[in-house]
Amino acid sequence: MIELINISKIFRSGIHEFSALKNINLKVAPGEIFGIIGKSGAGKSTLIRCVNLLERPTQGDVIVAKKNLTTLSETELRHSRRQIGMIFQHFNLLGTRTVFENVALPLELQGLSKKQITEKVMPLLTLTQLEDKHNAYPADLSGGQKQRVAIARALACEPKVLLCDEATSALDLHTTKSILDLLKDINAKLNLSILLITHEIEVVKEICDRVALIDQGEIIEENDIYSFFTQPQTSLAYEFIKTSLKHDLPFNLKDKLFEHPVANSQAILRIIFHGQAAAEPFIAHLMQDFGIKLNILQANIEFLKKEALGIMIVKTINAHDKLDQAMAYLKTKNVNVEILGYANAI
Ligand SMILES: Nc1ncnc2c1ncn2[C@@H]1O[C@H](COP(=O)(O)OP(=O)(O)OP(=O)(O)O)[C@@H](O)[C@H]1O
Ligand SMILES: [Mg+2]
Repeated sequence: MIELINISKIFRSGIHEFSALKNINLKVAPGEIFGIIGKSGAGKSTLIRCVNLLERPTQGDVIVAKKNLTTLSETELRHSRRQIGMIFQHFNLLGTRTVFENVALPLELQGLSKKQITEKVMPLLTLTQLEDKHNAYPADLSGGQKQRVAIARALACEPKVLLCDEATSALDLHTTKSILDLLKDINAKLNLSILLITHEIEVVKEICDRVALIDQGEIIEENDIYSFFTQPQTSLAYEFIKTSLKHDLPFNLKDKLFEHPVANSQAILRIIFHGQAAAEPFIAHLMQDFGIKLNILQANIEFLKKEALGIMIVKTINAHDKLDQAMAYLKTKNVNVEILGYANAI
């Protein structure tokens, strides 16, 4: 639905040049929720603004709904932009217009009649649970309600794509959750593709199907949400996920591990499982089939979008020569297992 091909963006001021985006290639499939995460200044806003050409890339092609936007005339571009809704961190509502009038604005600009506008706006206010606020002004709304208005307005022209620039960053945790739930709902009901940028890993965890990590204008990692959280490829990805998932050793074990087994030492394993694997009684199998007992040192089950993701750190007891076999067995069950080190038996 969205394809970015070799996008670069150079900002020039006088003799100074700044390369904000470098050879970005990305594809967002129809109906997908795709997240781009990165630190402040990484180039996230520049990138998302390139998708609707609010920012013109210095080089590269932007293809949305099979049209190459970079080759269109201004009139054609205005037309194509109707297929791309956008919401922002600070909502960007017009303070002098009511909720209804804000949502109606893009339809007025399209030249629709009053009757047509009402027919389109009212269902959007229902979808975003704002019916009772249709006559209110933005100043009288909470942050969450303002973002709902912005979402309703973004959907007015029935776009195929919704771009979200830090859409929940100005909201508290509870309101963030409700806006993310609304975005998931819209994604499912309207089969809308969503491209969102954020610096919050919790947002990615809650809503995204795929994620790309941007650093200094480059995509340094891209993966489906489960692989991103369970097998981070870069130290920056690891930095992001460790604030959200407990991957690390419990503090009381950190200094006590050694790299190689010694007499009577026990292996410490990190076991990561998700999806179908989470439903398998693999711990019981390790005990029954391999005679390995496990002492659970840390365990955590999270939900990534809809699927469970479990991360456990365990100490094996009496594993000895059966450890390799047991690990091979876990891998056949799509359970990711890794030896973190060895500790003395207590
Ligand atoms: N119009 C501009 N002129 C010059 N430099 C710019 C311009 N817009 C952005 N930049 C620079 O490009 C880099 C990326 O900015 P961008 O706003 O895309 O980052 P971001 O990842 O969205 O950051 P944040 O999380 O703080 O919003 C920054 O170093 C910024 O200073
Ligand atoms: Mg930004």
